[in-house]
Amino acid sequence: MAKDTLTITDNRTGKQYEIPIEHNAIRTADLHQIKVSEDDFGMMAYDPAYLNTASCRSAITFIDGDKGILRYRGYPIEQLAEKASFLEVAYLLFEGELPTKAQLERWESDVRSHTYVHTNILKFLEGYRYDAHPMGVLLGATAALSTFYPDAKHIEDPACRYLQRVRLMAKLPTIAAFAFRHSRGLPFVFPRNELNYIGNYVNMTFEIGGKHEPNPVLQRALEILLILHADHEQNCSTSAVRAVGSSHVDPFSAVSAGIAALYGPLHGGANEAVLEMLDEIGDKKNIPAFISEGKGGKGRLMGFGHRVYKSYDPRAKLIKKVAYDVFEQTGLNPKLEIALELERIALEDDYFIKRKLYPNVDFYSGLIYQAMGYPTDYFTVLFAIGRLPGWVAQWEEMLRDKDQKIARPRQIYIGYDQREFVPMAMRGDK
Ligand code: CMC
Repeated sequence: MAKDTLTITDNRTGKQYEIPIEHNAIRTADLHQIKVSEDDFGMMAYDPAYLNTASCRSAITFIDGDKGILRYRGYPIEQLAEKASFLEVAYLLFEGELPTKAQLERWESDVRSHTYVHTNILKFLEGYRYDAHPMGVLLGATAALSTFYPDAKHIEDPACRYLQRVRLMAKLPTIAAFAFRHSRGLPFVFPRNELNYIGNYVNMTFEIGGKHEPNPVLQRALEILLILHADHEQNCSTSAVRAVGSSHVDPFSAVSAGIAALYGPLHGGANEAVLEMLDEIGDKKNIPAFISEGKGGKGRLMGFGHRVYKSYDPRAKLIKKVAYDVFEQTGLNPKLEIALELERIALEDDYFIKRKLYPNVDFYSGLIYQAMGYPTDYFTVLFAIGRLPGWVAQWEEMLRDKDQKIARPRQIYIGYDQREFVPMAMRGDK
């Protein structure tokens, strides 16, 4: 009968090892027994950038990159984007089940009652230069929350974890809105808790002179974008949150590590980079030359390609639809034409076809954010608000997982063997 094991023959010694397989994976710790001699450390697996290494078992998000499938807790992203609210999706990610009406009301009310931030936070936000990148501001202010809530370090206590979850979900949009106002030299607008989660956030960003006319179509579009970003299993920022959280630091510090990772142009910063790229292209006639450069390894087509998706990113499909709803309200973003043409030409190009490079979530989202009135350098902040529930859900799952310990990868040392210190006088002139 077939066994769920892997037999490895070490040709250096002729020895055989039988290693258990579970979930189509082996534990790399089982390779440790493979040794040439007693004082040999034992075999390791070398996997830079974790191309084929599962760092955890997770029940939160499922992705099939070849088929373009994304599900949160089993629910297809398409259904959640159509039918759920962002706080409902956040609840689902945290608790594993969709909330009942009463559960959702309690969750919404808990979040609503924590939207204010300590006024000292306003003081240090004012200390940032007027042109400070909003992601830097968000990152610093989120980390600083840990100093306002020292109780957050009791991460072993589920009630304490719930409170920090609520605080993070409630306060991140407030800080994000304040970062927006700061960059424009506008006075901060405080939360209005009679508004819903999205309405309150939009009001804090755009209210002028006590007035803001809410646009329900744009607010729902923003909500859908947040839902589409809410989790994406073990991506760079989530892995950062898990790794930092594995040291048992408080969740504000762990989440700020996620924000830092998201900031980078290969991750969440790509939505900003897409707009810069579209500006650089400037005109449809320049697209072929631009694509040729991207193929030469000199540059990359931002918003294209994904480590996991080897077909059309399902989020990009949904976002493209949302874009048309938004442009009906705001007028067409003139860069859309360039983006559509860029996509068309790239998808017919052998280079992109062979490497299975398709538009990802960041390709069209920036165009929508821009049409809504957000400046380019602010786009990743919106991604962060969306990704927050995923970070926190994954952080909590990591803490409850008996298999997890402090994240501490091994290395293959390729440096010098021991050598003697060279005195300054003997080091030459260069
Ligand atoms: N434009 C041109 N060539 C590309 C691109 C691109 N956007 N992405 C990958 N390639 C090429 C790459 O040069 C390589 O070619 P070759 O095999 O000839 O060396 C091949 O495709 C595989 O690329 P890779 O760098 O090994 O793939 P990866 O899985 O390490 O990188 C990625 C994934 C998303 C970082 C990458 O596709 C990329 O840099 N894309 C542009 C940035 C971007 O849009 N990031 C957002 C990702 S989705 C949302 C998020 O995570 O935040």
